[in-house]
Amino acid sequence: MSNQLKDQWGRKIDNLRISVIDRCNLRCQYCMPVLSTISFSDKSELLTYEEIYRIAKIAVEMGVRTIRLTGGEPLLRREIVTLVGMLASLKQIGLKSIKMTTNGIFLSKHINQLKRNGLESVNVSIDTLNPRKFEKITGYPLLNQVIEGLEKALNAEIKEVKVNAVAIAGFNDNEIYDFAEFAIQYGITVRFIEYMPFPGNGWCLEKFIPSAVLKAKLEKKYQLQQEPSIEPSQTSRNYRIVGTDGKIGFISSVSEPFCSTCSRMRLSADGKLQPCLHGREELNIKKIIRNGGSDEDIRQVILKAANVKSRGHEDFLSPKFRRPTAARPMIRIGG
Ligand code: 5AD
Ligand code: SF4
Repeated sequence: MSNQLKDQWGRKIDNLRISVIDRCNLRCQYCMPVLSTISFSDKSELLTYEEIYRIAKIAVEMGVRTIRLTGGEPLLRREIVTLVGMLASLKQIGLKSIKMTTNGIFLSKHINQLKRNGLESVNVSIDTLNPRKFEKITGYPLLNQVIEGLEKALNAEIKEVKVNAVAIAGFNDNEIYDFAEFAIQYGITVRFIEYMPFPGNGWCLEKFIPSAVLKAKLEKKYQLQQEPSIEPSQTSRNYRIVGTDGKIGFISSVSEPFCSTCSRMRLSADGKLQPCLHGREELNIKKIIRNGGSDEDIRQVILKAANVKSRGHEDFLSPKFRRPTAARPMIRIGG
């Protein structure tokens, strides 16, 4: 397609991740920097649903095919189901799917309406299957509520329901067989995400485990069969646990970066376009809209963002790596 948005390196940009709120109701240590160093946006600073819809519509006209809603925690934004419904109308002009990354706390409350309004896919973050460890890492004793949300999502027959676990050495690396059994039990994909460094998130080499180590451990007990990738920009390498409906995925952003096939652009809750997760570039699209900018002005900022998208992030495992350069901590990006 000739009008497909591409970045300065020729990568197709067809995936827009929209953060709808920067607050969260959990306090995951690897995501949330020390609280005193972070400020959240007031409601007036957040893009309204009309503003998000307007940007999304133009982005879809420019070739965006997937929208993922993130946070903070997206289900904390009031009437989020309404936004899903508004965005679903963009399927008439080319949008293929609307997805969400959530911590699952409020999932059971909203899942049926989310599904009715057009949500196709949910990623639920569960970093441990041990209730006490869950409380330790998130600050709240709510593992059961999250599992209930996950079960409800599976019952609602949402097309795709996945679990994401950030792999942290000394924290959950002794639970990988439990996660595999969990994947088998529910017939879902559990994806291990390599722990990435963000400003103030406590990342260090000692806490980092490469996917290859987890995979080798799993292969001592299970036979894994690689699944074909559906899209070149897919970040997860997935394996079926042979003889079961469970799958394990590895998102190896640190040990094997997938920047060369990156198709993503991010829109922050406070209205900045962020071409790269680990970069400092941010383009203030809200200012343009609130100053009466035209659709063409919005198009131009999106093009500009694509034109400054960096080629990729630095090598976090290199001895030269000092500190993360991301413009914001993960809590304000949401995945
Ligand atoms: N490294 C990897 N993944 C992270 N997430 C949050 N912080 C990090 C990090 N430092 C993930 C969460 C969730 C999504 C919101 O982003 O686990 O899946
Ligand atoms: Fe894409 Fe930037 Fe993430 Fe690399 S670091 S995958 S370029 S968003």
